[in-house]
Amino acid sequence: MPSERRRLGDGRDSTKDVENATRKMGRTMAIERPVTVHLLPQLASGLAGAVAVVVDVLRATTSIVHAFAAGADAVVPCATIDEARALAKRRKSGVLLTGEREGKPIAGFDLGNSPRDFTAAKCKGKTVIMATTNGTPAIVAAALAERVLIAAFVNFSAVCEQLRTDPRPVHIVCAGTDGGISVEDTLLAGAIVDFLCEHEEVALSDSARLAWDAFENHGRILEGALELGQGGRNLLKLGYHFDIHDATRVDRFTLCPELRREPLRIERGAVGIVRAHWPR
Ligand code: MLT
Repeated sequence: MPSERRRLGDGRDSTKDVENATRKMGRTMAIERPVTVHLLPQLASGLAGAVAVVVDVLRATTSIVHAFAAGADAVVPCATIDEARALAKRRKSGVLLTGEREGKPIAGFDLGNSPRDFTAAKCKGKTVIMATTNGTPAIVAAALAERVLIAAFVNFSAVCEQLRTDPRPVHIVCAGTDGGISVEDTLLAGAIVDFLCEHEEVALSDSARLAWDAFENHGRILEGALELGQGGRNLLKLGYHFDIHDATRVDRFTLCPELRREPLRIERGAVGIVRAHWPR
């Protein structure tokens, strides 16, 4: 059993910090499940045989969870706008073409990438074809893993529940922002690492340790932290402040979208009784 650990904000003192640091260092010496964080999709390797968790908090993975909560049948992640357009043309009906470039809706698409726009009126029974700058290419790249889960703060505990019962090595793939490491994806990766450390013996990669530390230091002020990152600043400039707020609504939904193959698509995934795992 993993040792008891302090919660963020609960009587933080130097003794506990030392205990915590010692526990982090000692963790690598037991029999452990490998947990790796790829802070950018380009850094991802060794995905074969793993369960990958793709994270693009602002906004692709948050919007995907919203789409399923609103009743979408499937979400097809596309690496390019042309691919999305071609797919929508082939399918003709029952599709919703969505995505963004530089944060803005794409000409001729039905929707942009604001989570709250994925309403039941728009999504119910539809196949959502999505092309975003960083998020959907990251999902396509993560398809090399044996299993791929879609994570956001809004479905945090549902993802944790899936990981708890899946013995495979965990690879968390962060989409980042325009080729750069992002605050928001790193924080969610760190929150997932925090959960895994709490529940089992793990062997953390260096980047998993960094993400965990980032979460421990900044996880209590999510909305503020997200506003400070490049992705958040881009959205604020475009007037999408509500997207940042929506992205920080931890555990709003209890579903865990999952990638399926042939054809490549995301389906609603597990929904059910989900225990709350947010460390508060
Ligand atoms: C992306 O995939 O790059 C994002 O989700 C960006 C955005 O929504 O603005």
